[in-house]
Amino acid sequence: MPGRWLQRFERVVLVDVDPYAERLFRFNHGRRLRQAGTELLALQVDAMRELDALLADHTQASIFFDNVLGQHLYRVRELERAERELEGIAGRLSGRDWGSVHDLFSGPVEPGRRPAAPVMSFSAVNTPQGALAEGLSGTPLHKRLLAQVGGSGEWMDHLTSNVFPVGTQTHLIAWPFLPHYAHWLQAGWVG
Ligand SMILES: C[S@@+](CC[C@H](N)C(=O)[O-])C[C@H]1O[C@@H](n2cnc3c(N)ncnc32)[C@H](O)[C@@H]1O
Repeated sequence: MPGRWLQRFERVVLVDVDPYAERLFRFNHGRRLRQAGTELLALQVDAMRELDALLADHTQASIFFDNVLGQHLYRVRELERAERELEGIAGRLSGRDWGSVHDLFSGPVEPGRRPAAPVMSFSAVNTPQGALAEGLSGTPLHKRLLAQVGGSGEWMDHLTSNVFPVGTQTHLIAWPFLPHYAHWLQAGWVG
């Protein structure tokens, strides 16, 4: 997240369950925020559970889920509940400006085939069946994306394919997380 983007805001409310998040956030962005006079408020709460209360407390806020929603399944450990809650987010945020960058799929790759750095690879649009990527013909999408990075073995579906409302333009980004492991991320903004 570029500090210069954060400088646009009068106040940033950082929400993370991790007690170390505020310290890391201040380490990464504190100087920029002070330069711009941007206030920082840090809350150590579960953003999914407290979402409605957070929205009510910050009625003018734009909301950005910074690599959070792809972890929801790991936190709740219930497939159907995780999928239902992820698909329900857009409705709860109706009328707000919000965005997210999150994992779509992750798994093992052939080392020689993975991209050397995060690359913005495909523009996509969300459909009732999930993202549809320009320039990637054929279905299902996950098989096309895996083929791009030499994916093999068992891949994780992070259940985020329907987080964005139908019609949202997004970017699908290949992220070489480890030499033998890659993620496909989806980034988008709902105005
Ligand atoms: C992959 S890390 C991303 C951290 C940071 N946003 C970044 O991009 O560098 C995911 C973060 O989301 C936090 N997190 C996951 N689920 C959360 C939830 N339901 N409420 C608040 N924080 C959550 C974790 O504690 C962790 O710090």
